[in-house]
Amino acid sequence: MDSNRIQYEPYKNRIITANEAAALFTDGAVVGSSGFTKAGDSKAVLPAFAKRAVVEDIGITLITGASLGHTTDSDLAEANALYRRMPFQVDNVLRQKINNGDVMFIDQHLSETAELLTNKHLPKMDYAVIEALEIDQNGNIIPTTSIGNSAAFAQLSEKVIIEINTSLPLSFKGIHDVFIPKNYPERDVINITTPNSRIGKGYIKVDPDKVVGIVFTELPDSPAQVAEPDDNTIGIAEHLMAFFKSEVQSGRLSPSLMPLQAGIGKIANAVMMGFLNSPFKNLTMYSEVLQDSTFHLIDAGIMDFASASSITVSQECHDNLIKNFDKYQDKIVLRPQNISNSPEVIRRLGVIAINTAIEFDIYGNVNSTHLSGTKMMNGIGGSGDFARNAYLSVFVTPSISKGGAISHVVPMVPHTDHTEHDVDILVTDQGLADLRGLAPRERAKVVIENCVHPDYKEALQDYFERACQLGGHTPHILGEAFAWHAGLAERGSMKPFCPA
Ligand code: COA
Repeated sequence: MDSNRIQYEPYKNRIITANEAAALFTDGAVVGSSGFTKAGDSKAVLPAFAKRAVVEDIGITLITGASLGHTTDSDLAEANALYRRMPFQVDNVLRQKINNGDVMFIDQHLSETAELLTNKHLPKMDYAVIEALEIDQNGNIIPTTSIGNSAAFAQLSEKVIIEINTSLPLSFKGIHDVFIPKNYPERDVINITTPNSRIGKGYIKVDPDKVVGIVFTELPDSPAQVAEPDDNTIGIAEHLMAFFKSEVQSGRLSPSLMPLQAGIGKIANAVMMGFLNSPFKNLTMYSEVLQDSTFHLIDAGIMDFASASSITVSQECHDNLIKNFDKYQDKIVLRPQNISNSPEVIRRLGVIAINTAIEFDIYGNVNSTHLSGTKMMNGIGGSGDFARNAYLSVFVTPSISKGGAISHVVPMVPHTDHTEHDVDILVTDQGLADLRGLAPRERAKVVIENCVHPDYKEALQDYFERACQLGGHTPHILGEAFAWHAGLAERGSMKPFCPA
């Protein structure tokens, strides 16, 4: 325990154990926890509550920034400690509980949770558990590797528990910009005009009277798994780089492009690595997560500045960041997620959004969340915040996977997260479809021509032609539109529906 990390004297006699903190939650309590894509999450109190729920019949509603790290969501789900969970998760065990109907999961645009809480559209929050690097002399929280919804939770919850994490050095400061918009009807402009605009404070304000416990932990964030670029992601990146080059040549973009957003996951990170071998310079990011690729691009002198709500990186990248923090400190900023993902700011800055799709259809509708239209994968995350408001909205996915059993380009998506109206560019390893200014029938032609794997091309072309014979602005054969997904469920492959 390093009580030097508490600069506010009255808190010093509020130090408690994780078990004591977890014992405070009553059955059905609404708990908000820091944590955004595995960064800056509760590593002591929530795991202690999971252990308590193993031996006690008790559960909570858990609201976070986004996904939690380590096995916390697994442990909570396994112990039946979650009645409701929002707004995002990436955990296998929890995913199963959600898909069995045991946990009510509210899949939410990440910019919206704080808004819904503030405007009392969600139940009142009983406890907030927030990870801190240290506590300043006024009792406020200096956050760690994410901000997420923590500032809103600290403001809106009845009681606050602070988890001081000593795994990060005290020098890890100066990268946080905490701004809380005024409530309606006094809401004002969020005055971010470039990715490096700073409009807030370096700490999360908390009313000391609400702080009921300080818990210490030294467990670091769980590292991100980074996939090396493979043929698919290299192909996708090449098509995307060629597209950006042609946009520069046509005068629609400059060589520094526009601020970039890249979604979570192995594919988006690998695709971002494509910028390493590109002619683009002075790039910036206005995104929600900084992954390894951001730091590689900064190191290579290609990226000047990156703004997000969390840093979710591999162990190697984390170690390098801490060791060379001076080098990165003035090149990155972390913001609350309702600011990093603010539709107003995304539209103002003209962000280029690059997100990964589970699948898309011939007309440009995108499924980001539901496997075969029914089973929750992770959630929409910030993809909707960015896709709808972006200057250019790009979705990437491999053309096929699982040995060709799955085509990621389908006749009709069985669940739509991003409609045709929000999607500009679709990219697979096969090629890129530029949907701007095209009507549905024109879109289908460029999608089939450019994005579909050869194994599925003929079948998709045949579907489209027969659908067109039935007519319609967006032609479909309703009895057949999900036959590929039905084939996957029944026979383990979408393929049998393709003519030989
Ligand atoms: N049918 C069935 N399974 C599919 C599928 C499909 N059409 N598409 C993807 N999957 C499965 C993959 O097979 C893989 O499963 P596995 O781990 O058992 O192999 C899993 O989904 C993840 O796909 P993967 O290829 O590893 O890609 P990824 O790690 O880049 O994740 C998404 C892709 C779409 C799941 C992920 O990007 C996501 O959750 N997106 C929504 C949230 C978002 O976009 N946030 C952006 C703002 S940060």
